[in-house]
Amino acid sequence: MKKIILLICMGAIFSSTLAQTKITLNTDLAKTTINKHIYGHFAEHLGKCIYGGIYVGEGNPKIPNTAGVRNDIIQALRDLKVPNLRWPGGCFADTYQWKDGIGPKANRPKMVNVWWGGVTEDNSFGTHDFLDLCERIGAEPYLAGNVGSGSVKDLTDWVTYVNHPGGSPMSELRKQNGREKPWSVKMWGVGNEAWGCGGNMTAEYYANIYRQYATFMTDWDNTSKLYRIASGASDGDYVWTETLMKNIPHKMLAGVALHHYSVLSWTEKGPSVGFSEAHYFKTMSEAYLMEEFVKGHSTIMDKYDPEKRIALIVDEWGGWYNVEPGTNPGFLYQQNTMRDAMIAGMTLNIFNNHADRVRGANLAQIVNVLQSVILTNEEKMLLTPTYHVMKMYNVHQEAKLVPLNIESPTYEFQGKSLPAVSVSASKDASGALNISLTNIDYRKPHQVSINLRGEEFSKISGRILASATISDHNTFDQPNKVNVKDFADTKLEKGVVTLTLPAYSVLVLKLAK
Ligand code: AHR
Repeated sequence: MKKIILLICMGAIFSSTLAQTKITLNTDLAKTTINKHIYGHFAEHLGKCIYGGIYVGEGNPKIPNTAGVRNDIIQALRDLKVPNLRWPGGCFADTYQWKDGIGPKANRPKMVNVWWGGVTEDNSFGTHDFLDLCERIGAEPYLAGNVGSGSVKDLTDWVTYVNHPGGSPMSELRKQNGREKPWSVKMWGVGNEAWGCGGNMTAEYYANIYRQYATFMTDWDNTSKLYRIASGASDGDYVWTETLMKNIPHKMLAGVALHHYSVLSWTEKGPSVGFSEAHYFKTMSEAYLMEEFVKGHSTIMDKYDPEKRIALIVDEWGGWYNVEPGTNPGFLYQQNTMRDAMIAGMTLNIFNNHADRVRGANLAQIVNVLQSVILTNEEKMLLTPTYHVMKMYNVHQEAKLVPLNIESPTYEFQGKSLPAVSVSASKDASGALNISLTNIDYRKPHQVSINLRGEEFSKISGRILASATISDHNTFDQPNKVNVKDFADTKLEKGVVTLTLPAYSVLVLKLAK
């Protein structure tokens, strides 16, 4: 008897220590569409992203492939609903000579990848290979043009090669190389990180260069339907964004980019597995800065573009750690744990909630590099915790953002604190409400109540990504250690959903009528 009373008391103490997260969803005010391109990915010629990752070569006897691209990757990316794929870089883009990557593969010149490991590449994965891959996985291509070491003519030739219907030297060359119909590529990056690896330019200089390139990168009916994206700021470099917004005619500009990585410090990035709570807290603080940067850059853009015609495209984001021991430092190969799932869940909530201005983003990078969704080792392949989060969240693509209020408890560490719970919600075309919640707290579960403000739903279901330790990850021997499970511990009563969100977990709820 005594034992039972003690247990009841302990239960009461435990539940009273669970702080309340109070969320109110204004489902009646949902009007902004969450652009599917927020869920974009990025494939650079870097380490084993393309060669030895996505592309294993035609006729590879060990790994089943289609035109040299792994079939298991094609399937996984189709399932993920990748809306766009950015290629070929990154820093690599400003060294890439696209003409060396077309025509018979045996005749293609070799090149040295000066940015990433100094390895020699044979150009066997080129424009046709990439654009055909995009068609196979149902993604829109996002080509990053070489501005840093290329020429206006090279880039406009590339536009013509992939987009011109016929009768021009470039479209005829494309046809000779086996592709009759143009691919009609809309999304074009005009250089990458022009302030750094893309040419160490000043913002003023780049704005002028952008104007010059953009002038010649047009469609054939002179309406310029190309979606041209300017190389954007790093982190909180607001002067960069302001200079572009001021100096580039807006009719030439569809998007301005932003890059932000969650890194401990550029000199010591810490391990990707087996990190301390101090490492974890710092990574979460860095990831949370995305909120500040998105708001800061948006405020400047609002000043010059109050109608929000120009998009903020966060075309590189994710966690960046030390490379896995024993791997090439230039290949940026790192493991992907529940910590990365937290970065993904929190960041995607930020993007969704700022969907009026953030209309594109690209996780860095898709396979075997940085915060990958897929890792490969010879014929083996695994899906990372980040893959699962990106897939759970894809219900928000093209759905209507539900404005909300949240009062979150804090995750505290050594006198510092961060909001523990983040959330975003949307209504899809069928009227279903999808709510994504991330609890980054290293130690505590949190009670959550979600007030639906009178809108009635009769069905509720959930899927959760949670695991025993924050360092948990999938390995080639245990590829399903971290995986999504059904979550039924919810109560829907009188228009309020209540649940307990485990420590470091990501949950997506679906409510239907
Ligand atoms: O994603 C890795 C590198 O990070 C990219 O090549 C570059 O744009 C950024 O600095």
